[in-house]
Amino acid sequence: MEGPWGPVAATRLGQLAPALVRWRGAPCEAHRRIGSTNDRAKELARAGAPEGTFVWADEQTAGRGRRGRGWASPPGVGLWCSLVVRPPLKPGQWTRLVGWAALAVASTVKRFVQGPVGVKWPNDVVIGERKAAGILVEVETPPGGDLFAVVGIGLNVNHREDDFPSALRRQATSLRLAREMYGPVAASGEGALDRQTVLQDLLAELERLYEEGIPTGFAGVFDALRPYSVTLGRRVQVVGAGETFYGEAVDFTPDGMLVVLDDEGNRRIVAAGDVSIR
Ligand code: BTN
Repeated sequence: MEGPWGPVAATRLGQLAPALVRWRGAPCEAHRRIGSTNDRAKELARAGAPEGTFVWADEQTAGRGRRGRGWASPPGVGLWCSLVVRPPLKPGQWTRLVGWAALAVASTVKRFVQGPVGVKWPNDVVIGERKAAGILVEVETPPGGDLFAVVGIGLNVNHREDDFPSALRRQATSLRLAREMYGPVAASGEGALDRQTVLQDLLAELERLYEEGIPTGFAGVFDALRPYSVTLGRRVQVVGAGETFYGEAVDFTPDGMLVVLDDEGNRRIVAAGDVSIR
């Protein structure tokens, strides 16, 4: 990936990550610059693109985060990519895909950085207190078509402090910065990382956990995420429709909702958009 980029290179996912089995033959687009890889992957999926279709870009000009936020995606330093999946899940189970992707990203990050890698529910991968990656899963049913999900991953790889917008500098990190702070995993080298190597490891981990998750509909994915969680055990504020309450985050449901023990001792199930950690 560090080599020359054409405007768009179309290839097969198996050429990018030769170890893949399930998605080896799926189409893969590489863009030097694009608005959002999620938007492009959705376009392809709506037109019937198969599972495993993958879009990545060196730079996004309109990268999107959750809840209408932007995602800074400068050239040369990150992995900005989106994968189309069509898992045979029941309607209420699609939220589990966030857990699957978060687990894959967190365990990939751990291969390169010695620091405290965690997952801030529901979709942020952090190293220490700082965010290194975000996940945006978008599920859609096109008219007359089958349900699909686009799993968008933004992973900060080689950023230095100056590569982040000033407002994010104290909250964000990259694998490179975290390696400087906590040390690299010995076998993974030092300093700047080869993004292609990181991407190959990420794809392999996504595939491995996908194969593992499919037979049970990803039933255990939020159990597996528990050891990484930096949210469980923390005091949270929940701002719902017409009500605000405080409590302790104590568990996840199998579908990835947060179980909060409120200050009155009631167990309450809450969705991602409503929670902030105090
Ligand atoms: C978040 O933390 O709010 C989610 C950020 C997701 C960013 C990735 S970058 C690749 C893909 N394309 C997008 O426009 N967004 C996701």
